[in-house]
Amino acid sequence: MSDQGDYQTLIAAEGAVWSAAARDLAAKWRPDWQDMRRTRHYAVVDGRTIERLLALVQPGWRVLEIGCSSGWLSLEMARRGAHVEGVDVATEAISLAQAYAAEHPPSGSVTYRVLDINYAPLPEAHYDLIVMIGVLHHLAEVRAVLERVRAALKPNGLLYVGDPFDTPTPNALIAGALTFILPTHVRYRDKVRHLLRLRGQALERMKASIEARGLSPFEGYGRHQEPLEVIRELFQIESLHVHNAFVGYVIANLAMPEWLAVLIGRVLLPFDWLAVRLRLLKGLSYKLIARQP
Ligand SMILES: C[S@@+](CC[C@H](N)C(=O)[O-])C[C@H]1O[C@@H](n2cnc3c(N)ncnc32)[C@H](O)[C@@H]1O
Repeated sequence: MSDQGDYQTLIAAEGAVWSAAARDLAAKWRPDWQDMRRTRHYAVVDGRTIERLLALVQPGWRVLEIGCSSGWLSLEMARRGAHVEGVDVATEAISLAQAYAAEHPPSGSVTYRVLDINYAPLPEAHYDLIVMIGVLHHLAEVRAVLERVRAALKPNGLLYVGDPFDTPTPNALIAGALTFILPTHVRYRDKVRHLLRLRGQALERMKASIEARGLSPFEGYGRHQEPLEVIRELFQIESLHVHNAFVGYVIANLAMPEWLAVLIGRVLLPFDWLAVRLRLLKGLSYKLIARQP
């Protein structure tokens, strides 16, 4: 990105989109794992992976969470006795995180600050664990950030990453069929109308919707920089879990009470799991733990 003025405008807009998302979420759920674990996404798709991450965290560890949003995961890691820094480019999300943590101080410590990780320096050999969930695919400078992250980890320190893959056609077909059949915020009449209007473009539109293309200025920007390949090059991957072929997208779009969306998600989940296991579908998300080599 050559023009600094353009970049500053875009990254401010990126922060504004994620501030609004954090504000909307906080209107329904406290920024606390006790609440977040009950939301459809964590109750069905990612709850267990978060619990696995939390089980890794040791008292006294120095932890950095990049893209911490309203801070619930940083706070929960600090409740495990770690000293956690949460950073995010979304100013309002950071304010929410600070306010909630001030009212609910953890046994370790947690601080939050606004930071654009694309260009921010990090201390060297400082952290035991760095967490980046849903962030790499938003970055302008994936390799440069991962190089700084590697240098910021203590020798043998851990990197935890969660990020999406691109959407293959079969996943878009299944997700499209399920969101067509199940009640979503789009009325059935409009679904039929959209399908007739889009015809050949419907699949591409479904892929764009799954990948949230256009949601924020940097949405998907890091995808083309192949984050997983860069991680393979710079770190030693200890575990890689690929999952979520369609269920995450489908339940996110259901227009129904949370408990019913969770129930439907739990019914669909074994089919999703089996399809990935049998290599009938590719998982759309990965979670990995890597070590500083
Ligand atoms: C998809 S959200 C994920 C939030 C949270 N980690 C989670 O899993 O719910 C991406 C987050 O990355 C943050 N982000 C995007 N670009 C960033 C940047 N350059 N520096 C720091 N944070 C950034 C956004 O503000 C947003 O909070």
